Amino acid sequence: MFVVKDNFYHLISDIYTIYTMQLSDIGLIGLAVMGENLALNMESRGFRVTVYNRPAAGEELVVERFISGRGKGKNFFGTTSLTELVSSLARPRRVMMMIKAGTPVDDVIGELVPLLSPGDVIIDGGNSDFHDTARRVKELAARDLYFIGMGVSGGELGALEGPSLMPGGSPEAWPLVRPVFQAIAAKLEDGSPCCEWIGRGGAGHFVKTVHNGIEYGDMQLIAETYSLLKNRKQMRNEEMAELFEAWDRGELNSYLIGITANILRFKDVDGTYLLDKIRDVAGQKGTGKWAAIAALDEDDPLSLITEAVYARLLSAMVDERTEAAQRYGSHAHTDSHIRTEDLQEALYAAKIVSYAQGFSLLKRASVQYDWDLDLGSIARIWRNGCIIRSVFLQKITKAYEAVPDLKNLLFDTFFSGKIQSSLPAWRKIVSEAILSGVPVPAMCAALTYLDGLRTLHSPANLIQAQRDYFGAHTYERIDRDPGIFFHTDWTGVGGDTTSGVYTA
Ligand code: 6PG
Repeated sequence: MFVVKDNFYHLISDIYTIYTMQLSDIGLIGLAVMGENLALNMESRGFRVTVYNRPAAGEELVVERFISGRGKGKNFFGTTSLTELVSSLARPRRVMMMIKAGTPVDDVIGELVPLLSPGDVIIDGGNSDFHDTARRVKELAARDLYFIGMGVSGGELGALEGPSLMPGGSPEAWPLVRPVFQAIAAKLEDGSPCCEWIGRGGAGHFVKTVHNGIEYGDMQLIAETYSLLKNRKQMRNEEMAELFEAWDRGELNSYLIGITANILRFKDVDGTYLLDKIRDVAGQKGTGKWAAIAALDEDDPLSLITEAVYARLLSAMVDERTEAAQRYGSHAHTDSHIRTEDLQEALYAAKIVSYAQGFSLLKRASVQYDWDLDLGSIARIWRNGCIIRSVFLQKITKAYEAVPDLKNLLFDTFFSGKIQSSLPAWRKIVSEAILSGVPVPAMCAALTYLDGLRTLHSPANLIQAQRDYFGAHTYERIDRDPGIFFHTDWTGVGGDTTSGVYTA
């Protein structure tokens, strides 16, 4: 797919750079919100950064605007071509892309490869599909180039002040990029960076996909809590803001709970609450959906996150929602006996299940792709800088430190104690919501998952019987060893032929 240019070109470009300019530590392609802020972050930690933005209609001046604007007087080198960008870098070259995922990434790689030399590193900091990342690592390795697919979380401010970084790809490239990325990453109280090597191939982008799935789950749980407070308790924005602030001072302390309080308080220019004017249609760029798809691929029931994706999809069905509301009535806005203390417990317990599901997916994928993921370390690098940062994650690191091969986070002593003590309140909240018709799909999915997991005798015996009845799919018996399959001629007119045991 890629062609490396001959040595003559490299010789000329090297002579040019040596005699004409100070070499940069890293090149950054893509000066949109995240790229621009990451570049500023790198420069502020003492790195010289070459920047480039592909000229697009009406955007020709992006680099110029940056250099004479936020980058003014700083250690940046602005370029107008990839050739110039590559020529300006110290070797081995490190070129980071902060561009739209998908074809644009392949296009830029295709243009970069002929300009690079063996041992140079390309880093993709966008939200790329981990399958693409795995492919790119292989394709570039065949050209003696290294590729890193790195999850970057933290939004605009995180990128500027310290994001959480999840690098994976060519392991040989990690020592080459580590000084830059650990310097710009968010730090924990002990000064350690929220950036650690995740694993080979697509591991970094897979972990970022699960991060985003968990982000969807957290946001949905908070939105359901807001809905119950607003619709069942009829709390005003100011009261809800105070409640979220109080929760943010306790065990629910997290970035998303904190910003929810700020959002509830925020006034529009006319002095009214902005939140009340925002259309209730949730957007999405697709990474939550990827997490759900990856879970199905791994046969892992990621029910809460998947429900969070469905909730966004349902919110976008405006016409059908309007008709259904007319036909069936919208939920009642009456006062209720919901206790905010119970809601807090339900929220925390459902959050435990969400993370248990997310980490279960990481564990399964780690085995499937041979990544050897360090789950405790992943929880640690999510503790600061990223969107799901919270004190809660510290408990997860502790759980894996205590039992590195923990089967399920729900079996950790601390988490199982919390689940046990929260169960009555959690059931009350979910029941109240269901009885009053307020949708709480994520809170409910979490509870149903827990109930499914702790059910010793599930009704799957009936499903097996039905499968065997209509399709001779066979079943195992509890009075025989597992792994031995039986078929019954249920109707008296079936034959002896059985369907094989296989996955479609
Ligand atoms: C982050 C975020 C970010 C994501 C946005 C938008 O970790 O900084 O996950 O990467 O792109 O949150 O996601 P949606 O548009 O899908 O909500």
